[in-house]
Amino acid sequence: MCGIVGYIGYREAYPIVIKGLKRLEYRGYDSAGVMIYDGESIKLSKTKGKVADLEERASKEITTNGTIGIGHTRWATHGVPNDVNSHPHLSNSGDLVIIHNGIIENYAPLKVELIKRGYVFHSDTDTEVLVNLIEEVQKKENIKLGKAVQIALNQVVGAYAIAVFDKKNPDEIVAARLGSPLAIGIGEGEYFIASDASPFIEYTSNAVYLEDGEMAVIRLHKEMKVRKIKDDSLVNPIIQELQMNLEQIEKGGYDHFMLKEIYEQPSVIKDTYRGRLHANEGIIQMAGVEDNLEKFLNADRIIIVACGTSWHAGLVAEYIFEEFARISVEVEYASEFRYRNPIINSKDVVIAISQSGETADTMAAIKLAKEQGAFVFGVCNVVGSSISRETHAGAYTHAGPEIGVASTKAFTTQITVLTMIALRLAKAKGTLSQSDFHMYLQELELIPEKVREALETNDKAKEIAETFKDAPNCLYLGRGYNFPVALEGALKLKEISYIHAEGYPAAEMKHGPIALIDEQMPVVVIAPKQGHYDKIVSNIQEIKSRSGRIIAVVTKGDTQVRELADYVIEIPETSDALSPLITTIPLQLLSYHIAVLRGCNVDQPRNLAKSVTVE
Ligand code: M6R
Repeated sequence: MCGIVGYIGYREAYPIVIKGLKRLEYRGYDSAGVMIYDGESIKLSKTKGKVADLEERASKEITTNGTIGIGHTRWATHGVPNDVNSHPHLSNSGDLVIIHNGIIENYAPLKVELIKRGYVFHSDTDTEVLVNLIEEVQKKENIKLGKAVQIALNQVVGAYAIAVFDKKNPDEIVAARLGSPLAIGIGEGEYFIASDASPFIEYTSNAVYLEDGEMAVIRLHKEMKVRKIKDDSLVNPIIQELQMNLEQIEKGGYDHFMLKEIYEQPSVIKDTYRGRLHANEGIIQMAGVEDNLEKFLNADRIIIVACGTSWHAGLVAEYIFEEFARISVEVEYASEFRYRNPIINSKDVVIAISQSGETADTMAAIKLAKEQGAFVFGVCNVVGSSISRETHAGAYTHAGPEIGVASTKAFTTQITVLTMIALRLAKAKGTLSQSDFHMYLQELELIPEKVREALETNDKAKEIAETFKDAPNCLYLGRGYNFPVALEGALKLKEISYIHAEGYPAAEMKHGPIALIDEQMPVVVIAPKQGHYDKIVSNIQEIKSRSGRIIAVVTKGDTQVRELADYVIEIPETSDALSPLITTIPLQLLSYHIAVLRGCNVDQPRNLAKSVTVE
């Protein structure tokens, strides 16, 4: 959940590290720090706050140049966010410097042992324990950094992506990973280390993604050596060509990444189905599904595991799979699934959904399902991510980098992929009529244009946001396919504007939540023409009778709801099953504008991080 950056080469390291940290700030942003080695000494600057605060402080504290540097942007786990707990951390001798993303679970007994041997700790972090453990190993064995890191890591339980520097051997950085991502950019006479490739995209398009349990000794002017941490065996690293470009990771004129990503949806949904959906020919195919079609067709049930927004996409998929392909589906929070001894068998297909492909709970759920013999299929956005590698097969969403912490385009592209899978299975099983199958293919192809139209609700969303920006609570209601959209709308609002919001199936209102309704309570109701329209109109009446303030998302031309609602947002018509792809758009915009009007940090909401790589 933190971002790490390192550079070793011939360029000035400081600007590379700082720019890299800014790009990784989505991973954590409660404190930041940088270390530069200027050829003689270690220069360190760290602070509570964002990378911009670090820059201000470092401009006074780091006054010399150097071509080796490491930096960190933190999402606190052990120890509150403050200057002392910020990374990098120094060992007691002051020779070793470390940055770490992850958690050392057995840090407490290790710390006790180190204290017995005279080590002094300044921070509350697990990371300071690790750097001193490495130092202790190095001293005891009289060995070089790489070996000491390896021995120390074999004593550690937990997750890590680390970079370590040793002033006594200043032409190398040692990096290692287990459970947290780590990419190494390979340039001419220079190396870059980072949590993802964004910090070095303009310098090199060649990268090695370390696998779990691997470490790299990166030496200036030498070939990088990659080894297995456990048994020291040498690994031949695979150099991958990066698919990311600079434009994708910049704001491109938008005020926030979130807004940019909302507006990218028409084009990225097209990217998601490009080459996979051929509506005129009646063909839908994805390599990962085709290669494993029998597994899907023979499945007793599908279990979907995911977290957050990806879990909401899974809920939409439950409706779609059951209706289109008549396969029973269970949708599980990965964090619950992994610990509740679930019944899984070899005829189950598990679909793991994750934008980042790094979510720790989802990863653990996958491992559990694999151990119990299930076939595991991944729906990920980040190419080469841990989950995409851990699953037996999968389909990428091709949404491009999502940097805003609030997921937007990930959600709609995940639904697009899952819909395509359901349609493919429906075709194979004959569970949809030919005409319905063709209708859905045509409809899916029209979705990008309809999303574009739905984005025209931006001004309306802004106007409504002005009215409700100070509301302390908000309810979101939907039925059927749009119940998960209600959950997603509520999540978007609470995570970026800090307004308490709840999503409910509209009919559940009368079983409790209706007691909350009074003239202060905004209620967002998703009420497109298809689906359970009459039922939801009745639910709206019930809210109206209790003086709730109704904001309704309706199909263009709707008159019935208009008469009841305080505000209506009109969206283009599509089939019930595909409607979440459209109804979610105004809800994203509404949350965005409310958060902006409340002065919240939209892209980096408090307490959050983009990829949750700790449990
Ligand atoms: O990368 P993942 O899709 O696995 O992430 C899952 C959740 O952490 C994520 O969707 C989170 O809920 C977002 N902040 C929601 O906007």
